[in-house]
Amino acid sequence: MTTTASEPTASESAANGAGSNGAQATGPFDELMSFAQERGYKLDWLRKAEIWGSGEESDLSRGGLLLQDLAGSDPAEVPAESDNLTGRPRGTQPRPVAPRVGNYRVRTKADIWLRNAAELYEEAVQRQWSSATDIPWHTLTELPDDIEAAECKLATFLTEIEFVAGDVPGRWISEITPEYFEPRMFLISQVVDEARHLDVFRKRALANGGGLMERNPRAGSDVFAGTIDSARDFTEMSAKLHISGEGSVLTIFRMGERMAYNDAEKMIYRLAASDEARHVAFGVMHLQYLGQTMPERREEIHSYLDEAERGLITGTNQNPAANANPSNAALAILLGGGKDKIEEGQKLALAMRQRQVKEYVQRVTVAGFGERFEEGRSAGEMLRAYASA
Ligand SMILES: [Fe+2]
Ligand SMILES: [Fe+2]
Repeated sequence: MTTTASEPTASESAANGAGSNGAQATGPFDELMSFAQERGYKLDWLRKAEIWGSGEESDLSRGGLLLQDLAGSDPAEVPAESDNLTGRPRGTQPRPVAPRVGNYRVRTKADIWLRNAAELYEEAVQRQWSSATDIPWHTLTELPDDIEAAECKLATFLTEIEFVAGDVPGRWISEITPEYFEPRMFLISQVVDEARHLDVFRKRALANGGGLMERNPRAGSDVFAGTIDSARDFTEMSAKLHISGEGSVLTIFRMGERMAYNDAEKMIYRLAASDEARHVAFGVMHLQYLGQTMPERREEIHSYLDEAERGLITGTNQNPAANANPSNAALAILLGGGKDKIEEGQKLALAMRQRQVKEYVQRVTVAGFGERFEEGRSAGEMLRAYASA
């Protein structure tokens, strides 16, 4: 329970024996109040509030002063539910007449929370990079036409879906009560990351004599109008975007060394993978928290994962390796080493799909929903077919 700044704390009143008008001033603080009020100043806010923390020392050698280091100095509890519609960040003292500024949809902790949002946010801030200066663009050299065209096809696909990966979580940021500011700030960092991914793949498409190619036929109809962007629940969006969509892209980025033809491309995939791992971790940790704190929603979550698996397989969840997506052929040309080696490349693309499924199963298991793979709930046959053809 917090105390407002305008009210003296019970212990202060007892100790001072004074009212707020200063008529019975007995100590220096009350004398100051009387002095100020006589001259038209309002200094009530100087009264020490009970919510003041301990100012605990932080270990600055572990990456500086981190948000999570201050948890002990911030005794404001994270509420299980919030009726705060005024934009008041958690821990600040309420002002009864503050206007409502947001009719936030996400006002229940379990709907948005994860145990390490502050850590993921701090990592995001510390690992920002620049597509202008951190990519060794000078290592781009002229490539055979089929390889360059495949690079451009994949880069076109990626620059489009990176827009989705920023746009969709972006819609939710202003829907979250600021009581839960840590996941909110993480999502803001994700939008910045995705803007950088959008720009780095655009730059790759344009920087080496190629150019942007025809857009992915599925991106417009299925991704935007389909399940990810029309999710009505934050966890539904997160499961489909963070775990399924971005998870499938993360696997591809992690295999980027296999399809890169120079150090610039290797660095693009390496840095983008580092960001995507963070986005996927957010989704896994949030799903884990929700599953543990709201077991009554587990069946609902399984239904989201049913859809997420179908998206992985059919490519509607932004998966460039799905057979139905033209980018799959571009991947095979890059992996094989040319259009005349596309058959060989398809074998490597198959290995990529197998790894996608394996990593997806691992993530869902870590999130606490692994029973779907044991109980036949998962689209197991479809996943097996996807990973074998
Ligand atoms: Fe991304
Ligand atoms: Fe991402």
